[in-house]
Amino acid sequence: MPGRIVAVSMPRPDRMEAWIAEFRPLLPGFTVLPASEVRDAGAVEYAIVWKPPAGLLKGYPNLKATVSVGAGIDHVAADAEYPRGVPVIKTIGPDMTLRMQEYVCLHVLRLHRDQPRLEAAQRRGAWDQHSTPTARDRRVGILGMGHLGQAAALALAGFGFDVAGWSRSGRGPEGIAMFGAEGLEAFLARTDILVCLLPLTAETEGILDARTLGMLPKGACLVNAARGGHLVEEDLLAALASGQVSHATLDVFAVEPLPAGHPFWSHPQVTVTPHVASLIDPKSGGRVIAGNILDFEAGEEVRDLTWIGRGY
Ligand code: NAP
Ligand code: GLV
Repeated sequence: MPGRIVAVSMPRPDRMEAWIAEFRPLLPGFTVLPASEVRDAGAVEYAIVWKPPAGLLKGYPNLKATVSVGAGIDHVAADAEYPRGVPVIKTIGPDMTLRMQEYVCLHVLRLHRDQPRLEAAQRRGAWDQHSTPTARDRRVGILGMGHLGQAAALALAGFGFDVAGWSRSGRGPEGIAMFGAEGLEAFLARTDILVCLLPLTAETEGILDARTLGMLPKGACLVNAARGGHLVEEDLLAALASGQVSHATLDVFAVEPLPAGHPFWSHPQVTVTPHVASLIDPKSGGRVIAGNILDFEAGEEVRDLTWIGRGY
């Protein structure tokens, strides 16, 4: 008899095996099973998921919490049948934060130092020597100042960039200029390189559109490491064509994998990365997830616990 069950659902069965192997020794007292092998739905107390099939979670009547294998929970919210009274625990942790810092610094520095132009020049065999401003004269703006936005902002400030952040509350770390919900236009107007690290919600969907891209100084750059749903792709293509945006680095897309033949693949002003900004790994992610479940079981506060539909 399996007893108390932790059901795991991930779209890639090859990856799921490695995760389950990590969870088993870390969750004593539970039987950790792929969701497809659960025979007694009533015994499932926790579900650890990435992009769960619609309706899966409402089928567990005694579910205590759902755990997202990642920081974003839009993939859980996408299930219209999700049992709203069941909390969702986001997975973040130090490795995810460090990887996102690395990604944002890498790509902001690349844009700051005009690297796409130098790479294009190399392909032409051209010696395109030109100087670029120093970091202190480059204004970077971060949309979303949560775990990842704050960490990225502090790392960029460490290079000397002139960093500002935008969030609902306008709260952010000391030393970073902050703008609240009402300050979006002013924030964008002072942003040469815009980094999106917002969660995807009804309020933030499509936030990177013709209107907001048009509020940036002409020739600004974009780094989207949050979700494809934040960006209106046709509006970006138009902004690139007009020179309003000079380059976009995109890690996330409306449809993933990015379909063959999509204009982003071959666009000279677009850098595509395959949703790798901060991929969680079973070793470090497994520890964070198991720790959160055990804290929840013990009645301790779980910082990254939230509810679908109640703001996250
Ligand atoms: P978080 O800690 O929940 O922070 C979210 C931030 O966004 C907060 O500052 C929040 O403002 C702000 N925000 C939320 N709704 C807003 C709105 N309507 N208007 C203005 N600001 C709003 O999130 P996180 O852990 O940093 O993660 C952010 C996102 O990164 C995730 O949701 C995920 O989609 C994405 N991500 C991508 C990758 C990748 O590999 N590409 C990896 C990990 C995560 P307040 O502080 O005022 O509430
Ligand atoms: C990755 O995209 C995550 O949300 O952790």
